[in-house]
Amino acid sequence: MKNIFEQLSLETKCLEYEPLAKKTTLGVGGKARWYVEPATLEDLQILLGETYRQSISVFILGRGSNILVLDDGFDGVVVRLVHPFWRSIEVLDERRMYVGGGVRLKEITGKATELGWTGFEFMEGIPGGLGGSLRMNAGAMGGWMFDRVESVLYLEKDGTVQKVSKNSCEVTYRECKTLKDTVVIGAILVKEGQDDSAAIRERIEAYSKKRKLSQPREASAGCAFKNPLNQHAGKLIDQAGLKNLCVGGAAVSGVHGNFLVNKGNASSQDVLGLIERIREKIRMEHGIELEQEIIILGR
Ligand code: EPU
Repeated sequence: MKNIFEQLSLETKCLEYEPLAKKTTLGVGGKARWYVEPATLEDLQILLGETYRQSISVFILGRGSNILVLDDGFDGVVVRLVHPFWRSIEVLDERRMYVGGGVRLKEITGKATELGWTGFEFMEGIPGGLGGSLRMNAGAMGGWMFDRVESVLYLEKDGTVQKVSKNSCEVTYRECKTLKDTVVIGAILVKEGQDDSAAIRERIEAYSKKRKLSQPREASAGCAFKNPLNQHAGKLIDQAGLKNLCVGGAAVSGVHGNFLVNKGNASSQDVLGLIERIREKIRMEHGIELEQEIIILGR
């Protein structure tokens, strides 16, 4: 890796054995063998190209809101697009904006509200960044990310730049297969319509209230499982009597059954143990195999 780091500009942050727990909302897990915050597109391309040639694993960590890092850490390079270079929002015309891969959804909602653009309200409160949210087609309140996408700019595993239109993306509930194993550089998002900023703010407020009442405030990685067809994982877990079930420092939230919370000292083993206990019970009671939404990063 040293020879790769030497090819990157001085503005790019390169570290070894970097702790990851605090870079995730769940706050669990070990260190990344290498850690890079690229400051330019060229640096990211060099990094991807060289690691690809040398078969070094790379993981792009977004805002860390849907991730469980294992206690042993990750024996590869973790890349985060947090440098200001990746965080620009540019209004292109009266209906489209370009958003960098590292921009938080909260910032997108803020910009759209200011412009009176509708269709971005559901992003309020999703604690992620654009890249990760597109890769998993994050959603809430009846909307999902690809509702607002015109096209996505991304890098292939080897650093090659690609642009894909929404229609060419394979998009389903909580997944965009086209963007798997890619790095989202940015996307062009399109408004749904126009409204008063005050009216948009009111809708956002209503979503926020609903979220605060139905979702826990403790450290979590969002919903742990995808909703099975025509079912809600949270409801199934709740009805199975699993709320507040603990394994070590990890617990099923008492507020929402699909949130696993860190009571303060959870290990990744605790969280994995809890996931297994839940899956087993739901399998036994309903014959349903709950599919994880949380991404597991580790050896
Ligand atoms: N419910 C229960 N008990 C619970 C949790 C929920 O009975 O412990 C019931 C609720 O009363 C409601 C139904 O289940 O009737 C659905 O609950 P909710 O509205 O919270 O929606 P959800 O399907 O559990 C989904 C997304 C969330 C998103 C919310 C709000 C998934 C897996 N989850 O939750 O997304 O915030 O809708 O729109 O699709 C995430 O993906 O990480 C996430 C948090």
